[in-house]
Amino acid sequence: MHKLGVLLSGRGSNFVAIAEHIASGKLRDCAIAAVISNLADAPGLAAARQRGLNAIAIEARGRKRAEHDAEIVACLREHQVDLVCLAGYMRLLSPGFVQAFPQRILNIHPSLLPAFPGLDAQTQAFDYGVQVTGCTVHFVDEQLDHGAIILQKAVPVRAGDDAHTLAERILEQEHIAYSEAIGRVVSGKYEVVGRRYLPKS
Ligand code: GRF
Repeated sequence: MHKLGVLLSGRGSNFVAIAEHIASGKLRDCAIAAVISNLADAPGLAAARQRGLNAIAIEARGRKRAEHDAEIVACLREHQVDLVCLAGYMRLLSPGFVQAFPQRILNIHPSLLPAFPGLDAQTQAFDYGVQVTGCTVHFVDEQLDHGAIILQKAVPVRAGDDAHTLAERILEQEHIAYSEAIGRVVSGKYEVVGRRYLPKS
């Protein structure tokens, strides 16, 4: 059984989708061992608590990033987490955090990387005028929105879209993509060669 640690800062809809896929059996061999937030009042943390999961706030409180991250790493270790899933976690990870879980930290980003990294990716894509955007699940390395890509889903921009309707349709795909990517990683049937994720049979 793989133990997931979910890190979030906001509403937590990706976390809820993962939890539901585990509960329904669509995502096998996984359990959520801890849900951690840097914000005690994150709605996603309340959702985790309601589900009877370990919901833990570890606030930064003006501490140095490395110190805050070390506390999170200790908490993940305490809960024997072997795969960390960033789900709307709005802080950059320090090198020490990334190195503590090599190729075992995933993130979801609401664009087809490497296009539109950073904040408000859906609005960036909409304003740029792209006709296709989407979402990306990738391994986390020490650069923002940069590690090897595990899975992408494309979402077309429609004529009547605004940035909000586009973001909603991307989010629907995120909810599918994240569990699918976790399933791929926990299956172990892949290798990463350079930047490339290669499935193995
Ligand atoms: C999602 O759009 C995700 O791609 C991005 O942050 C947002 C989190 O949404 N990294 P939620 O908190 O999972 O609802």
